[in-house]
This record gives sequence, structure tokens and C-alpha cells, in this order.
Amino acid sequence: MQSSLPSKLHAAIIMDGNGRWAAARGLPRKTGHEAGVKAIRRTVEAAPGLGVGTLTLYAFSCDNWARPKAEVEALMRLLRHYLSREVARLVRNGVRLTVIGRRDRLPGGLAAAIGRAEEETAAGRELHLRIAIDYSAREAILSAAARIAGPEDLTREGFSRLVTGDADLRAVDLLIRTSGEQRLSDFLLWESAYAELYFTDRLWPDFGADDLAAALGTFRRRERRFGGLPAPAAAA
Ligand code: IPE
Ligand code: IPE
Ligand code: MG
Repeated sequence: MQSSLPSKLHAAIIMDGNGRWAAARGLPRKTGHEAGVKAIRRTVEAAPGLGVGTLTLYAFSCDNWARPKAEVEALMRLLRHYLSREVARLVRNGVRLTVIGRRDRLPGGLAAAIGRAEEETAAGRELHLRIAIDYSAREAILSAAARIAGPEDLTREGFSRLVTGDADLRAVDLLIRTSGEQRLSDFLLWESAYAELYFTDRLWPDFGADDLAAALGTFRRRERRFGGLPAPAAAA
């Protein structure tokens, strides 16, 4: 089973629009984040069946600390609940969970829940779910640069290992952002060098299996060239 993973796609999602989803219903932003957790569950469960082997979700950026304290606390609480309550389900579905980003600024309960969830799901082979919490791509790149130990680290492959901390990680194939915004907001800048970008107006709490399938359908119709020429010209 494990050997089938690398040939599967790496999809990454900037889960955006929780606040607007709530505002449109006259509800507090926190309720939008709660609805966003349900969308995470739907998306994670649909991913393996759609050919996704690695799914990286942007849950909280280093810049999100700038939000009001009450919203940050609500998000931290929700993430802790998700990680502790979801483990059994993840294990059942063969999902291996890892968390990327800084851990030193997270509340203790969340850091502990991350450690437990990573340990308990380590054997999952159907999907590698990566959740980005207190994450900044620029910080990940800077921290990798500070750890360069020799010439082998100064190659694309070697430096990738330092940036991602995962020698087997596939580059991002498809990067999705919901809510109509079309920007990267400091997400996976190194890993997305040749990612296909897909933007949808759907707000994250409304996102589900059909939306993921639509994004993958579009992705499969795209022609990836990686700097080369389209297939017929290359053959000529
Ligand atoms: C995404 O939704 C979740 C996080 C960034 C934590 P937002 O909270 O950014 O929702 P909008 O963009 O305000 O609608
Ligand atoms: C990006 O969304 C971060 C996450 C989805 C976790 P933001 O809502 O924070 O991004 P900006 O501020 O609109 O660029
Ligand atoms: Mg937003």
C-alpha cells in the first residue's frame, strides 16, 4: 500500500472564507470556523478516492496571530478538539496525520494533541494529511537556510528536504484556494513551484467532495510542461 502513495497527487488547500460564511448568516466568525471543521472532514474522506495521496491544509498562518484574541483562542480550541476527537476516525480511514509549522507558540493542550495524533495515526497509508498550523512558507525557507550543513543541502532535492522535513514528500501538484481570493498568503512557496492553481468562489464551510472532484477534473485537463514543450512538439 505504501508504495502506491508517491504516485498519487499532492493537493494543497488554502481553506478561506469561514468568516464571510458566518457573516452572511448573521453568525459569529467562530461559527464559521466550526462549519469549516466539518468541511475538513468531508474533504479528507473524499480525497483518497479521488487519487489524492497527500493533502496539505492551511489552517492557521503565522500572520493569523494578528486577529482578535478571542478569535485566535476559538481557533486553537477548535484545532485541539479536531485533533483529539478525530484520531479514531483518521485511524479507521488509514489517514496519517502530520502537522507543519511552528509548535513553540501553540497553547500546551494543542501541542500535546498534535503529538498524540501524529503518533496514533503514524501507520496510516491511504492518505497523508498535513495540517499547517502557525505556518509561514517564508519562515520554513528561512529556517531551512539556517540549517544548511554542506553542499548536499544546496541542491533542489537537498534543500527541499530541509524545507519540508520529509524526504518522500512530493511537490504540490494542485493548489486550491476557496472564497474567491487569488493569492498565496505565504503558503508552500517552495513546494508549489510548478503547482497548478485553482481558485473557486465557494466559501470553505460549503466545500465538499464535489468541489474537490471538480478541482481535480480541471487539474487533469491542464497541460503541465515544467518548462518543456507540449507533448506533440517535444516528439517532433
Ligand atoms: C479561513 O477563513 C480560516 C482562517 C484563516 C483561520 P477566514 O477566517 O480567513 O475567513 P474570511 O476570509 O474572513 O471570510
Ligand atoms: C490564509 O487565509 C491563511 C489560512 C487559510 C489559514 P487569510 O484569510 O489569513 O489570508 P489573507 O489575509 O486574506 O491573505
Ligand atoms: Mg480569510
